[in-house]
Parts: sequence; C-alpha cells; structure tokens
Amino acid sequence: MSDYIDSKEAKRILKENRKAIKALEQRRRVEAAQSKPVRMAEPDNILEFDDLHTWFYTDVGIVKAVDGVSFSIPKGKTVGVVGESGCGKSVTSLSAMRLLAQPQGQIVSGEIRFALPAPLQPVNIAALSDIEMRRIRGNNIAMIFQDPMTSLNPVLRIGFQLDEVIKFHKEDLQQKGIVTDFSKEGIRQRSIEMIETVGIPNAERIYESYPFELSGGMVQRIMIAMALQAAPSLIIADEPTTALDVTIQAQILDLLRELKSKINASIMLITHDLGVVAEMADYVVVMYSGRIVEKGRAIDIFKNPAHPYTRGLMKSKPSLVVSTSSTAGKKERLYSIPGRVPNPVAMPDYCYFRDRCEFAGHECNGEYPVEHALSDTHRVACYRGHICKKI
Ligand SMILES: Nc1ncnc2c1ncn2[C@@H]1O[C@H](COP(=O)(O)OP(=O)(O)OP(=O)(O)O)[C@@H](O)[C@H]1O
Ligand SMILES: [Mg+2]
Repeated sequence: MSDYIDSKEAKRILKENRKAIKALEQRRRVEAAQSKPVRMAEPDNILEFDDLHTWFYTDVGIVKAVDGVSFSIPKGKTVGVVGESGCGKSVTSLSAMRLLAQPQGQIVSGEIRFALPAPLQPVNIAALSDIEMRRIRGNNIAMIFQDPMTSLNPVLRIGFQLDEVIKFHKEDLQQKGIVTDFSKEGIRQRSIEMIETVGIPNAERIYESYPFELSGGMVQRIMIAMALQAAPSLIIADEPTTALDVTIQAQILDLLRELKSKINASIMLITHDLGVVAEMADYVVVMYSGRIVEKGRAIDIFKNPAHPYTRGLMKSKPSLVVSTSSTAGKKERLYSIPGRVPNPVAMPDYCYFRDRCEFAGHECNGEYPVEHALSDTHRVACYRGHICKKI
C-alpha cells in the first residue's frame, strides 16, 4: 500500500476529522454540564484509567495513540510506566492532565477517575469542563516534564516564577492551610522555603537568579519545587531525569522519593529506563503501541516477566558488568528488540507485537489477545505469556 495521500483523500480526512472533533467536543460539553456522580473502583486508588482511548485526528488519518488503557495508581504509591518511544506514555499522562494538543488530540472514550481529597467527591477527568480542570491541575495533580530548561521562562527570575504559582493557587493554598500570609514577603518566604525543601543551598540567592544561571539539575529541582507548591496528591513525572547526567539523576530520584513520603503523594513515573523503575516503582505498567501488554507489582514484572516485549526490554537494559581477566577485552553488544513498531495509522488486528516476537506461534495470528491474570497482581495480554514465563 502506498503512503501517498492524494488531495481528494486529504480533503475527505480533513472533513471527517472536523466532524468527529466537533461531535466529541459537543459530547464533553454535555457531560460536563451533567456532572454525573463518579465512584472509584477501589477506595485506595488516587487515579484510575479505565479503558482510555486518546486519539489524534491528523492530516494522514487517526493515530490511536492510546487505545484501551486501564490501570490504577494507589494512594501513596509509585507506578512506573515503561515502553519504547511512541508507545503512548506521554499521551496517557497528558490525558490525565487534559493537556493534549488541541483540537486534534481527543479523549474518545473511557474514564479517568480521580479521587479529590475528602469531603470532595471523585471526578471523571475525561468529562470535566476546562474551568474545573484548571482547578485540579497543579493543585491536585502536578506534572514534572522531561526538559526542565524549556519549562521555565528564561527572562523571568526563579523567585518571580515560584511566586506566581502561589498566587495562582491562592484559594486552594488557603483552604489546605499551607500558606496563610499572602503579603509580598509571605509569598517570598514560602518560595524560599520550597527552594530549600528541594535541597538547593543559598535559597535566597537562587530566588533572585535567572534560569540560565542554574545547572540542569538545579532547574529540575526548581521544577519539582514548583510542582509541589500546592501539595498535590498526585505527581506525574514524565522522564524527569532523562536530560540530566547520571549522578544528578540519582539525586533527583532520591529527592522525589523523599518528598513523596513527606507529602504522602502518589507518583506516576514515566520512563524508558527500567533501572529507574526498579529503584522507584511499587507497580509497573508496560505499554506497547498504545496498549498495555503487561502490568503488575514491580516484583512480578522484574522476577517473572511474562510478555516477550517485557523480556526484550529487560534484555536491552544495560547492566554493570565487572570485568574479570577472562571477560576483559570482550565487547558484548547490547540486545535490541528486532523489527519496528507498526504504523500507528493502520494498526493490524492481530497482536501488535507478533511480527517482532521470537515466541510467536500459530495462535498469535488470531485477534489482538485479551488481558488475562497470571496472579492476583499480575496481568498480561499475550497468547503465549505463560509459555514465555517458563523459558
Ligand atoms: N500532537 C500530536 N499529533 C499527532 N500525533 C501525536 C501527537 N502527540 C503524540 N502523537 C502520537 O502519539 C503516539 C504516542 O506518543 P507519546 O508521546 O505518548 O509517546 P511516548 O511513549 O511518550 O514516547 P517517548 O518515550 O518518545 O516520549 C505516537 O505515535 C505519536 O506520534
Ligand atoms: Mg513521552
């Protein structure tokens, strides 16, 4: 099949996209106005993705970036989301923040249930109005992005940017009793306190600095301070250490762990680094091409990986090998999973991983495999998951 799209086809796609987007936006307006009561499936969860479908209506067709994703984030726990580039990790988190590129990025179906602090009732983020969502963003759910340098405004002082966050969340900070003094000096004091909380010495000097005067690690600490300003109950960290060097990476992860227990928050940690997940996460979700292929407690995934893709990811993880005289000089090539991810605009109807899978059998020619339980805590979507596990 040719990838070329002629002008007639392009026009047709454009027209269909417009129609679909209009219908979805209209439906969300109606749902937001109805504000139906929402119940969490488990009271111990802070966030529940339930059959989430987030699609992009692009000029070349629909990209089903997230296509039926369900997993939960328990209160006070860290959930690691892993998978190779383009598998839908960021789109899942941006759906929870309702920060998808508009208007092409749309939550097409499914729920994102979020437990607001008592006495407030849980909400379905997918059906909230933009105004309601603005209250939750930053206040109850905060996000730390991959590239800290581009997340701060380069021409404004650090202090000014931290102060702005306090001013923006004034009402909620008052309600939570976190800040009581909203005078210029009171706000400044809170910002300086936050700079100290994230472990930066000389907080007063940093408060007066511009982002370019700080190292990458320091800016990421400032971003974390900013995310924590309003004491959110969920922190989404999208590759928070990828842009940093290894020693700084370790420090930032330590900081996140320490802060998480201090404010008793949950963390959704997105990364392609299994080492980071092993160190930080209580639960792991493995994504492939917009779907979850395996999920479970970290110990299930690391001790008993069942999906061939998870096993491939494990094998492609670099590990520190101490060279002995017999291995010295030998160069081992790092394993990489052969093949490529399928075209996101035209996904096959069989298992998306089949064509790259070394364990594929004749049953894998059937429909996309449904998720099944290997134990109370461990689930896999693979016809041969049980077989791979034993190998
Ligand atoms: N604004 C957009 N318009 C069209 N397609 C998009 C858009 N944003 C993301 N996508 C597509 O959605 C899919 C999932 O992207 P996503 O950014 O979630 O991947 P990821 O798992 O976070 O990858 P990475 O590890 O590289 O950050 C990809 O196929 C991507 O091309
Ligand atoms: Mg991403």
